This record gives sequence, C-alpha cells and structure tokens, in this order.
Amino acid sequence: MRKFLLLTSLVVTAGLVTTSLTPVVGHADSASAVDGKMQALPDGEAVYHHVCQSCHMPDGKGAVGAGARFPALAGNPKLQSADYPAYVVLNGHGGMPWFSGLLNDQQVVNVVNYIRTHFGNHYTDTLKLEDISGMRPQLSAEEE
Ligand code: HEC
Repeated sequence: MRKFLLLTSLVVTAGLVTTSLTPVVGHADSASAVDGKMQALPDGEAVYHHVCQSCHMPDGKGAVGAGARFPALAGNPKLQSADYPAYVVLNGHGGMPWFSGLLNDQQVVNVVNYIRTHFGNHYTDTLKLEDISGMRPQLSAEEE
C-alpha cells in the first residue's frame, strides 16, 4: 500500500512537471514540440528552432526577465566540452527542463553539434552518438 502511494505521488509529480512545462514549450514554432516524441526534426538546426530557441532565443544570446534567466549559448565557454550541453539537454539543469523524452539520441547529438558551431562558436570536435550513451536518465514511461 505504501509503495502504491509512493508510486502514485511520483506519477502525479511527473504529471505536474509536464503540465507546468507545456505552456513554455508551446512557444516553440511547432505543435509537435508539445506532443510526445519529436517527429521529423532532421538536423540540429531544426531541433534548435523548434525546441531551444523559445528560451535561448533565435540568436542564441539568451534572455533575462520576468524572474527567469536563460543563459546565452553564444560565446558560452561551458560549451567547450560537448559532454556538458549533451548532459544538460538529456537531464535538465536548474530551471531548464530535460528533453530526454522528447528527443532521440541522434537529435541530441545534432543539436549539440549545432549550438557548438553556430552563434559565433567554432568548436570543431564533433559529438558522436556513442559519446552520449549512458547519459540518458533512466526514467519510467510516465516520467518521460
Ligand atoms: C523552457 C526553457 C528552455 C528550453 C526550451 C531550453 N533551455 Fe536550455 N536552459 C534553460 C535555462 C533556464 C537554463 C539555465 C539553467 C540553470 O543553470 O539553472 C538553461 C541552460 C542551458 C545550458 C547550460 C548553459 C550554462 O551556461 O550552463 C545549455 C547548454 C542549454 N541550456 C542548451 C539547450 C538546448 C540545446 C536546448 C534545446 C534542446 C535548450 N537548452 C532548451 C532554459 C531552456
């Protein structure tokens, strides 16, 4: 019984998180951003435009306001190691939600390579699929 209650509250919490994120993610340019797994987002640019730019802005310069701070990806020294942005996208970080349920590994790799080579960033080492194996959090279907 205890276990059941605990499980229920976990599911409810996951539901709350998802619900509270929906309006924000809804600012993305595509309705598909709200509904389950991403559909065709063939490259990193598409992922960025549909998923990330609503918070990090189209020019990657981020934004500050209304009590929120969306860090710039332009000229951000923390992108030097590709592992860091990949980890943040898959697991979330502070005020940023995780996208492990929304993006497949290829899309994560693509968007990380995109942000590391745009907005004035010129990192030439490319993140590969195998680099992020194991970074994906182990979530139940309800939490995704
Ligand atoms: C709902 C708004 C939102 C969306 C959508 C979003 N982010 Fe973020 N992101 C944030 C916030 C807020 C932070 C700062 C988190 C913190 O440090 O508390 C952040 C932090 C980051 C960081 C770490 C920056 C640093 O200096 O530590 C990276 C990298 C990043 N985001 C990349 C992305 C990518 C790539 C996408 C798209 C797949 C994305 N974000 C989508 C809000 C968002």
